[in-house]
Amino acid sequence: MDNKVYIFDTTLRDGEQSPGATMNLHEKLRLAEQLEKLGVDCIEAGFPASSQGDFESVKAIAEQIQNCQVAGLARCMEKDIERTWEAIKNANHPRIHTFLATSPIHMQYKLRKEPDEVLAMIEKGVKFAKSLCPVIEFSAEDASRSDKDFLVKVATVAINAGASVINLPDTVGYAIPSDYANLIEYVIKNCPVADKAIFSVHCHDDLGLSVSNTIAALKAGARQAEVTLCGIGERAGNTALEEVVMALNVRKDLFQLETNIIKEQLFPACRLLSMIIGKPIPANKAIIGGNAFAHESGIHQDGMLKNRETYEIMTPQSIGRTSSDIVIGKHSGRNAIRNKLDSLNMGNLSEEQFEIVFNAIKALADKKKTIHDEDIEALVVGEVYRQPDIYKLISIAVQSSTDNMPATAAIALEVKGEIIRKAGFGVGPIDAAFNVIAEILGRSPEVERYAVNAITGGTDAQGEVTVTLVEHGLSSTGRASHPDIITSSAKAYIDAMNRLVRKEKDERF
Ligand code: KIV
Ligand code: ZN
Repeated sequence: MDNKVYIFDTTLRDGEQSPGATMNLHEKLRLAEQLEKLGVDCIEAGFPASSQGDFESVKAIAEQIQNCQVAGLARCMEKDIERTWEAIKNANHPRIHTFLATSPIHMQYKLRKEPDEVLAMIEKGVKFAKSLCPVIEFSAEDASRSDKDFLVKVATVAINAGASVINLPDTVGYAIPSDYANLIEYVIKNCPVADKAIFSVHCHDDLGLSVSNTIAALKAGARQAEVTLCGIGERAGNTALEEVVMALNVRKDLFQLETNIIKEQLFPACRLLSMIIGKPIPANKAIIGGNAFAHESGIHQDGMLKNRETYEIMTPQSIGRTSSDIVIGKHSGRNAIRNKLDSLNMGNLSEEQFEIVFNAIKALADKKKTIHDEDIEALVVGEVYRQPDIYKLISIAVQSSTDNMPATAAIALEVKGEIIRKAGFGVGPIDAAFNVIAEILGRSPEVERYAVNAITGGTDAQGEVTVTLVEHGLSSTGRASHPDIITSSAKAYIDAMNRLVRKEKDERF
């Protein structure tokens, strides 16, 4: 059996379905570029039929990515498949990924179809997709709760209709490793045309078993793993790409499986995602968390000093965690900053983008003595990959006290080229700032989530703020970083408003 495992990355599709992880077009393009550099075999860029915004970003990614495949997701129906093809047809290596549910509960309640009707839909949909695109993947949604003999029929029909990848997802995160491995083995063994396709797995983490299930399925014969960076995704998330890749790598003795992933790009890729979606990586997260290579106890430290392998099964350098010795500060010149950007994998900026970042670094260095790598990453993500704003913060002044007095905020906001100034109250300075911005814009969104994270240590650290707003059933998440957390809070709120307005336009399409 071939020992190559294909890595299908769905950070931009299933990952983006994770609450608060929406990305704009520039952010998606930047992440897609990093995924290609990481060496994934296929990037699932989105679900083109779901919205105009998704269609446009899948199309842009398909046109930009050179070497790996670009997939678009489609329900197993002609109009979705046609729209998906429209979005990916200019890719060098396009793939249509079409899906239909196969479990009794989904067929009865969601699709209201009999099993034979589902088989007929699969045959028709996959044949149609194959008439447009050279590579077709079919996913049997909720496979882990489907009848195994029915899955054999599903796989046979899909392969005969032209699918060359059959995905058997654990859509609801219900599987346990031994059962899932048995299911994969059973379908591969009993499908008469199994040798004409690659079997794929796609797991969700509802029981915290997605990585274990994925590895068990690969051991049982699956050769494609569908994963996301940091395991982001619907509900409890998807399978973490970095965990599967490193498990296969560190335990090569056991699995004898290979991927095309360039391991040194794992940490930069996960960091970039975390910066873009404004969600810090938890310190105890496997492989990429801040503590993953930290040794605290005396016994461990002693062992490490004698021989690193006593307590380290992989090195931080092997996944791209390197500390560069170029220190950036107030007096750094263009060359030093270019070097630093290169070392952070962010060197491919246009001259105009470089000037924006250079000036932003200089402005930050006036406020903050030490500029850390994380500060620079936050500036690049914030200044370069954001779309032009409709609303922009010009200035903010707040006042708060320990008495029973309400806090006040005075804000100047640019709204479609016009500067509007207003002042108002709140229970604290951030509440006051949010109230004033909402009043200027004549809107009243609910603040569903507000989180502040210090990007680095020190009291002069930049505060990275994430704000999720909900209005009329639509939600959007904004992010901003600044050494003054009141300013970053106001900017994050305004960013969320800008994104909400764009989303409303998209919905109206
Ligand atoms: O979880 C799932 O079943 C999916 C499919 C669309 C592959 O995301
Ligand atoms: Zn999924």
